Amino acid sequence: MTDRILNPVLRDRLKSADEAAAMIGPGMTVAMSGFTGAGYPKVVPLALASRIERANAAGGRFQIKVLTGASTAPELDGALAKVDGIEMRLPFQSDPVVRGQINDGSLDYLDIHLSHVAQFAWFGFFGDIDIAVIEVTAINADGTLVPSSSVGNNKTWLDLADKVIIEVNRWQPSEMDGMHDIYYGTALPPHRKPIPLLAPADRIGEPHLRVDLDKVVAVVETDAPDRIGAFAPPDAASEQIAGHLLEFFAHEIERGRLTSQLLPLQSGIGNVTNAVLSALAKGGYKGLSAFTEVVQDGMLELVSEGVLSMVSATSFSLSPAGTAEFKRNVDFYRKHIVLRPQEMSNHPELIRRLGCIAMNGMLEADLYGNVNSTHVAGTSIMNGIGGSGDFARNAYLSVFMSASTAKGGRISSIVPMASHVDHTEHDTMVVVTEQGLADLRGLSPKQRARLVIERCAHPDYRPMLQDYFDRACRDSHGKHTPHLLGEALSWHQRLVETGSMRRTDA
Ligand code: COA
Repeated sequence: MTDRILNPVLRDRLKSADEAAAMIGPGMTVAMSGFTGAGYPKVVPLALASRIERANAAGGRFQIKVLTGASTAPELDGALAKVDGIEMRLPFQSDPVVRGQINDGSLDYLDIHLSHVAQFAWFGFFGDIDIAVIEVTAINADGTLVPSSSVGNNKTWLDLADKVIIEVNRWQPSEMDGMHDIYYGTALPPHRKPIPLLAPADRIGEPHLRVDLDKVVAVVETDAPDRIGAFAPPDAASEQIAGHLLEFFAHEIERGRLTSQLLPLQSGIGNVTNAVLSALAKGGYKGLSAFTEVVQDGMLELVSEGVLSMVSATSFSLSPAGTAEFKRNVDFYRKHIVLRPQEMSNHPELIRRLGCIAMNGMLEADLYGNVNSTHVAGTSIMNGIGGSGDFARNAYLSVFMSASTAKGGRISSIVPMASHVDHTEHDTMVVVTEQGLADLRGLSPKQRARLVIERCAHPDYRPMLQDYFDRACRDSHGKHTPHLLGEALSWHQRLVETGSMRRTDA
């Protein structure tokens, strides 16, 4: 088994998952690898969860603070949350148990921009990092680490943690070696230098992670798959959203604002963005690039079809079918995909300079283009902002997309006033639903509202929205951004009270 641990010093530190988990104590800040269900440690968190369960059953209170790259999987977030083992969690999650605990107030959640995590850690906002638990594909003879299916914050965790536990997962294909680009040129202000990355394909760092061997307290071998559920198959709404986007891109090319090579694409997480990306293959594009955060199934398909010739990301997020395809053809994908630390994949300077086209999912948008990606009815967290803010704020073109209704039509995704704002009207350029696409660039608030109602709202809600807007314009005597403040949020209040935004359902 130890053929993937070539460094003799680290081979001598082989331990069982239980022995490694015993090094983690109550109150510790534990930084783990893992990003959107990929590259997270598979066995130490499970062993730790058993330990916590025993300690808490014996009347103790054993909780830790968990830092990661982004969401992980049931073996990490789910297992630790089920035994009430997490006191604080950052920066992004999508686990149902964790979500429940955040929303019942028993778990503190810090939902921050993914590009901010490394610098916040370096500035000490999260306190000292006691221990890092990092999954890798292999350990080289010189002690450097071959990253696995995500890079996330691993470089930062390895640099900052007092102690390190390494999980070497032989399920991860060894052919991934060479796919990563770890940039060690970052610094804190005032010592920052320009990042010498000029195109998504550029390699500016090293293929392997460095670690101080003296800090490594345990190496654990594993052979376990990344676990990501299957995506919902593309539905009619996603196909229509993709159709509107393709038409829009063609129009932008015609106007000379884009070329037939478009610009580096970013695609957010979720069913809708995944389905839209798959459908983009119908646009007849070839040789495009992506500068993005995650590679979901839709993006892998575009790479295999030659629509995308190069993808820069920080992580995979592949369904079992996508994973099987990747593993069958790693040698091919290694030439077309590069994985970087998330402080690079989501770097505002790079996103702005490369001129990305950012396409992210949303829960709701309001008439003026303020977007809520995170909070149902303004109070309950869904997942988190993830990298959507990093991209939307800095992209050349920032697009938000969703079906025009949710929950069988009981919720309108277009509302008078967003119940929570992750992306302000100043960052939202295009809103698209299956109904149509609203290009908000160059429009005043009232012009935006008219277009959003006309193009994006579902016909069931359009009259309600139009009526709201007309009365808001009348009663506010033409003010800049007309609102009826009490009524605006009554849509969300109605949802909380009756489970529907429709007046007739109330
Ligand atoms: N109110 C309440 N619930 C809503 C809703 C709304 N306005 N809009 C969608 N939902 C619910 C859906 O009903 C669905 O619930 P279910 O899981 O119980 O079926 C869930 O949200 C997901 O919706 P879906 O339509 O399948 O969209 P998605 O999978 O594409 O996810 C987001 C949409 C907004 C949740 C997702 O894109 C997200 O978490 N975004 C924030 C982070 C991000 O953008 N990261 C990308 C950076 S690279």
